[in-house]
Amino acid sequence: MSRMVELLNKMTIEEKIGQLMQIVPSLFKEKNTTELTGPLSGVSIEKEDLWNCGSVLGVYNGNQMIEIQNDYLEKSRLKIPLIFMFDVIHGYKTIFPIPLALGCSWDMNAAKTMAQTAAKEAALSGIQVNFSPMVDLVRDPRWGRVIESTGEDPYLNGKYAEAFVRGYRENDKYNVATCVKHFAGYGQSEGGRDYNTVDMSDRTLREFYLPSYKAAIDAGCDMVMTSFNTIHGVPSTGNKYLMKDILRDEWGFDGVVISDWGAVGELIVHGVAKDEKEAAKLAINASVDIEMMTSAYINNLKKLINEGSVSENIIDEAVLRVLKLKENMGLFDNPFGLTNQEEADEVYLCESHRRASRDVASKSMVLLKNDGILPLDKHKKIAVIGPFGNNQDIIGAWGAIGKIEDSISLLQGIVNKVGDVPHVNGCEVNSDDISEFGKAISIAKDCDVIILALGESSDMSGEANCRADIGLPGVQEKLVDELAKLNKPIVTVLFNGRPLDLKNVSKKTSAILEAWHPGTEGGNAVADILFGDVNPSGKLSMSIPYSVGQIPVYYNHYLTGRPKEGADINNNFVSRYLDIPNEPLYPFGYGLSYNNYIYSAIDIDKKVIKKGEKLTASITVKNTGNYLGTETVQLYIRDLVSTAVRPIKELKSFAQVTLKANEEAKVEFVVTEEMLKFHNSKNEFVVEDGEFELMIGKSSVDFEIITFQYIK
Ligand code: NOJ
Repeated sequence: MSRMVELLNKMTIEEKIGQLMQIVPSLFKEKNTTELTGPLSGVSIEKEDLWNCGSVLGVYNGNQMIEIQNDYLEKSRLKIPLIFMFDVIHGYKTIFPIPLALGCSWDMNAAKTMAQTAAKEAALSGIQVNFSPMVDLVRDPRWGRVIESTGEDPYLNGKYAEAFVRGYRENDKYNVATCVKHFAGYGQSEGGRDYNTVDMSDRTLREFYLPSYKAAIDAGCDMVMTSFNTIHGVPSTGNKYLMKDILRDEWGFDGVVISDWGAVGELIVHGVAKDEKEAAKLAINASVDIEMMTSAYINNLKKLINEGSVSENIIDEAVLRVLKLKENMGLFDNPFGLTNQEEADEVYLCESHRRASRDVASKSMVLLKNDGILPLDKHKKIAVIGPFGNNQDIIGAWGAIGKIEDSISLLQGIVNKVGDVPHVNGCEVNSDDISEFGKAISIAKDCDVIILALGESSDMSGEANCRADIGLPGVQEKLVDELAKLNKPIVTVLFNGRPLDLKNVSKKTSAILEAWHPGTEGGNAVADILFGDVNPSGKLSMSIPYSVGQIPVYYNHYLTGRPKEGADINNNFVSRYLDIPNEPLYPFGYGLSYNNYIYSAIDIDKKVIKKGEKLTASITVKNTGNYLGTETVQLYIRDLVSTAVRPIKELKSFAQVTLKANEEAKVEFVVTEEMLKFHNSKNEFVVEDGEFELMIGKSSVDFEIITFQYIK
């Protein structure tokens, strides 16, 4: 009998149920010692149940963890250590770019570096499980939580899911367990409003939304968190089809499933359970092991077992999964894990972590426009204007214990590079006040180039922070208009958590660098790019819409029966808008460099793939620019005729090449049968005979193309 089964056999029913409850540390103490990541209203637990609770959400310091653990072990009968979990989304103390920015790096080593650095700082501070990666596919920039996702593509999101899981896990000794979230489909919240209804077909769920969760699990993810939304009319947290049929039975996931914050209790609000007791029954029977921050389990599971509506077996299986997780994290041998606050204090924001954050940040930024003004000549007279000119609020939402005061503002980054430069805010991030416009105009008049730093504050995105209008907030657009009247080159640098409406900015300014919320070293990383010490290489992993009215706009859409593309110009009966284009302003996969890369025609080794065969496609990419640069070469496939409609293209592979000036490289891709599979009209995952288009290029709209056949 395994050690954990032996332990399980010694546990009372109350002790078992306690393992399935997660609470915040403040409930162990009178004073609130943590910042909350959700509402406290749903928890009511008796004092005696406290010493049975199995896990804790959020500690902010290793010494705090040690104190709580010691106290708990002293008071609990079986001395089963608590396990500490927390959201370490893009860094713990040293903050890296937001995940959406990381998504634009297309660089899995960068993702891994972030994860390893974050895991080290978190593990030393008392955390054993990270509520990451968040892999929800996103198509709606109004939704504040797009910042936590790596973008709109299932394949690319899956690659990041794997890189994050491996990074957190495979990290010398400093690893944390991982929890993929939010299962499933949360990114499709209607109207881009958080927590809102999700309704999609099973085909859509499986084609677009599920692959990235599966990729995380295949990479060894330890836990799964439910989502707040409904799927096929049933909230995920009580959804047997999702949790049992797909996750446990189809995918064979045997790790711990945890509800999102309060989501068991919310089954009542959704209207699928009449009270806490029914909510507990639904969730536990759907195989949700841990309840986060409501008390439906702890107050009702025993009654439900006694009544026979929940079997004790289900409880035992759930508890065993929790115990095994604790065992895997070594807590039974050392209940403090890797916690060492002294060492944590040494590595927080240390030189090498700051360096790593700066490198990853510059790889994540996307150059959207450049009429030739960038890179900047260091001798030019520049003026820094805009509410993000000297603003340290650039670490973004979900910054764990990161502090705004530790980050490098753009101004500081520029001063570090070229010495003092004039600076005026011109306006605040989100206000009507234009009283500083005059000062901004006056320093602008006196310079050769304006660096205009605009964007959104960290609290304008993230959980519950959605926006209906995705323009620049406040009077920032007006500031653009006024400065543009001076007819001087304007380099816009954007600090934001979501794709914004950039129509006006793109018309009126000479260059746009999308810096996102770049993290602790943001200002230095931007300066590296502006002055050419780093050549930008980021490519968008989420489309930037032309207007909010297009949302959702994404590259891998279906064609419709009346597409605008290719239609006769006199035919009005096509799928279009009268007032705006169908296409986004900047598409998926797009991003400029200081170089130009020329692609040859595609070469393929066969025109027909038969069952079990592979095809090799190659292309030569030449750097015709003057700088060392990294280019992301993207491969897309389109199935031309099939029993169910297919996207106009789907990313199936990509490769990064680093080329010196005038250097060229041959890039080879292998196309497998697996890449051609899809959910057909009967929802079976198969490949169908026929013709396929294969596209290789620099973005989803700029590529070479060739066709091939698949025959069984
Ligand atoms: C709610 C969020 O939806 C989830 O992502 C997070 O992990 C939990 N709160 C815990 O903070």
